[in-house]
Amino acid sequence: LRTEALAAIAGAADETAVEQARIKYLGQAGALTVVSKGMKDVSKEDKPRIGKLLNDVRTAVTAALDERKAALLASADAAAFAGVDVTLPGTASRLGSLHPITQLQDRAIQIFRRMGFALADGPDIETEWHCFDALNTPKDHPARNEQDTFYMPDGRLLRTHTSTIQIRTMESSAPPIRIIAPGAAYRRDEVDATHLAQFNQMEGLYVAEGVSVADLKGTLEFFFRELFGSDAQFRFRPHFFPFTEPSFEVDIKATALGAADKWLEIAGCGMVDPAVFESINSKRGDTAYDPEKYTGFAFGFGLDRLAMIMSGTPDIRYFTQNDQRFLAQF
Ligand code: PHE
Repeated sequence: LRTEALAAIAGAADETAVEQARIKYLGQAGALTVVSKGMKDVSKEDKPRIGKLLNDVRTAVTAALDERKAALLASADAAAFAGVDVTLPGTASRLGSLHPITQLQDRAIQIFRRMGFALADGPDIETEWHCFDALNTPKDHPARNEQDTFYMPDGRLLRTHTSTIQIRTMESSAPPIRIIAPGAAYRRDEVDATHLAQFNQMEGLYVAEGVSVADLKGTLEFFFRELFGSDAQFRFRPHFFPFTEPSFEVDIKATALGAADKWLEIAGCGMVDPAVFESINSKRGDTAYDPEKYTGFAFGFGLDRLAMIMSGTPDIRYFTQNDQRFLAQF
């Protein structure tokens, strides 16, 4: 029986055949089981000897079954890996990275942080008051036009600039304040190589006693030199914004920006118009922003435009298309 069982197991071609052999010899009605049942008829003197014999056979058959199963498994593995060199180095999967606009925004925040500016935030969906009225923008100003601004059915709007966060911050905190506010802005512009209907700005506001145009210039020049190198040159051109007086546009020349001899417009800024302080005071119902006591400066710039200039990206739409070939360059 032992010889027969071992031969059957050795000849089992697959796992099913091994299992069949197990049932045939060790199963409930298996040959060895049947023989074992005959033990009760064996005489007392013979019992130890026969018992040991049966045990040995059972052990040998069990071992042979396990061995055959393992051998079949190993050869199946070998077949599956045939022609595969598992010692070859693998193909590395590529790690993602932060979006270029996010990277620039993070750098800008770090620089302003070192100058003591805190982060401020506000909603994208705004009231006309926060976006225009409080910012001294007349009712008939072209920016308020439905052609330029996305209005909601309830009269609210998508903020056209992050200057709304100046207003929200002054509403909720008394001076001195020193904040920057990165965020999305929305305008009903025709989308082309230099315009998006949704873009990103960073706003800054500093209100305290004795803040001057020199502070404004010093702060912005320091910031842009940190970004573009110490050889950067600046031009503050007189401009107009309803909420600052005087107002300027900032032009920069820097070797880091490709053309060392070309003025590039990068920001709008100015001294907070006292009319803005008056709107805040009447909303707050106090005189926290006393124009006799406090002055301030504000600035705003487009992060997308800045990222375009810094990287030489010819079309602003690349920043919104999530094309790996573009994003992987940053
Ligand atoms: N809000 C202005 C714009 O979007 C920029 C600006 C901010 C100008 C703060 C002056 C002061 O064009």
